[in-house]
Amino acid sequence: MSRQNIFDNETFFSGYKALRDSDCNANDLIEQPAMRKLLPDLNGRSVLDLGCGYGHNCIDFVGRGAARVVGIDISEKMLAVAKEESAHVKIEYRNMSMTDISDLDEKFDFIYSSLAFHYVKDFDAFANDMYSVLSEGGLLLFSQEHPIITSTVDGAGHFNKNENGEKVSYTFSNYNQPGERRIRWYVDGVIKYHRTFSDIINALANAGFVVEAVCEPVPEEWVIEKVPAWSKEFIKPNFLIIKARKG
Ligand SMILES: C[S@@+](CC[C@H](N)C(=O)[O-])C[C@H]1O[C@@H](n2cnc3c(N)ncnc32)[C@H](O)[C@@H]1O
Repeated sequence: MSRQNIFDNETFFSGYKALRDSDCNANDLIEQPAMRKLLPDLNGRSVLDLGCGYGHNCIDFVGRGAARVVGIDISEKMLAVAKEESAHVKIEYRNMSMTDISDLDEKFDFIYSSLAFHYVKDFDAFANDMYSVLSEGGLLLFSQEHPIITSTVDGAGHFNKNENGEKVSYTFSNYNQPGERRIRWYVDGVIKYHRTFSDIINALANAGFVVEAVCEPVPEEWVIEKVPAWSKEFIKPNFLIIKARKG
């Protein structure tokens, strides 16, 4: 199945919401600060946010001067929160799969996506679709779970500890076996797709994108002070962030 809508599962939705509402989640402390540093000037620009979730980034883009923002999500529950918490006349929320963006009848200056692309099955076709939907010279900025994280078939993190109980290394497997992963995350059977680093870069290059930046973010000092446990991120990355331009 290439379009699982797990965020509409009540148990999953509640678990994920509690995670995002906590003040020590990796999105807010590690991924979002790195993404913000790579944002282009959005003044007067049109933006497409793929897998926009609660719409927090959509409203941020309006604050940065975006002229129009379209937020797409497959989950009605996520969009209900977006419409409640992040509504604005310049934002349109659409309940659809990001794999259907070729149906859109407009082009965008900037495509953004935070932690949603590992839910897409066919990344080669999706990269082509994103290229078509971008205006000439348009930019793509996305984050996804790092291939080191998506690789292991059971999806579990495998930290190894020393005699003092400190995490010192991380074991992963199945890296060169791309494809579907069914994992337990609040519920059984959450589907994600593993791709190698080269699969991802080659899909973008074959579509015509020119990669401008690649980032595997680590926690900043203030994050370690706030949540010392996040120093485990220096053992292995959790996220992969890529910024690319329509060539
Ligand atoms: C981890 S959440 C991230 C939400 C948001 N981007 C953020 O950073 O707060 C992933 C989002 O991708 C959405 N999603 C998953 N598969 C999708 C698909 N095929 N089309 C559109 N949205 C999808 C989910 O419903 C969910 O809202």
